Amino acid sequence: MFDSGVGGLTVLRALLATLPSEHYVYLGDTARLPYGTKSADSVRRYALQAAAALRGRGVKCLVVACNTATAVALDALAAGFDPLPVVGVLEPGAVAACRATRSGRVAVIATEGTVRGGAYERAIRRLLPDARIVSRACPMFVALAEEGWTAGPIAEAVAHRYLDDWFGPGAGTGKPDTLVLGCTHFPMLEPVLQAVAGPDATIVDSARTTAAAVADVLGERGLLRTAGPGDPGRLELLATDGPERFARVGSGFLGRPIGTEDVRVVDL
Ligand code: DGL
Repeated sequence: MFDSGVGGLTVLRALLATLPSEHYVYLGDTARLPYGTKSADSVRRYALQAAAALRGRGVKCLVVACNTATAVALDALAAGFDPLPVVGVLEPGAVAACRATRSGRVAVIATEGTVRGGAYERAIRRLLPDARIVSRACPMFVALAEEGWTAGPIAEAVAHRYLDDWFGPGAGTGKPDTLVLGCTHFPMLEPVLQAVAGPDATIVDSARTTAAAVADVLGERGLLRTAGPGDPGRLELLATDGPERFARVGSGFLGRPIGTEDVRVVDL
């Protein structure tokens, strides 16, 4: 699996809970983060390079743990790496949103790259044709999450700036009842986002539904691994830059300690 940085570790966390016996290789393309502000062509090129590096390590399934890369490169990855199963986070995120909403009013926050292409709107409308969807690019949330500033006055101020016209006192009736975290970095800010969106908003992200989609794909293809005694699932962490930072910030995303010595730097 890969992401532009540590954000995809929120998806890895869900995968480890769902499929603990598997071996995982996680690649954070930290040298080229953020993906969300780059052109679709650049992100597609980066995604193909990251996937090639992972295929070179003999993976049996590729998880695109980045909404931006999923939005612009999923088709190219599926075609370029066929027959390797490729699972993105966007469709599972749309499924989670459609399950959660009661009013059909859905707000999506994501990176510029994800919002620009309208991929979430299309994915949600395929499942819920009458959905009323608003979306917004929130690139500052990526910076806050990577910096570890996920709570406190600065995170709150940024969240108010991005969300108040949808959820604040002036929003009136017709508020969205569901807020989709369309970027794998954003779950780290969930308590702040919930406080600003209010108790009536259901916050969904794609981590759990992506893990379920991976379990389905591996099951269908007979690829699930069974861990034997003394043969547990292994985890390999790769980054294209800055192992210290990856370990420090990534620990919070993964929900378990990561040491600098656990992160190997690779060149794509
Ligand atoms: N975590 C990534 C996503 O889900 C991208 C963040 C970025 O690199 O801008 O979109």
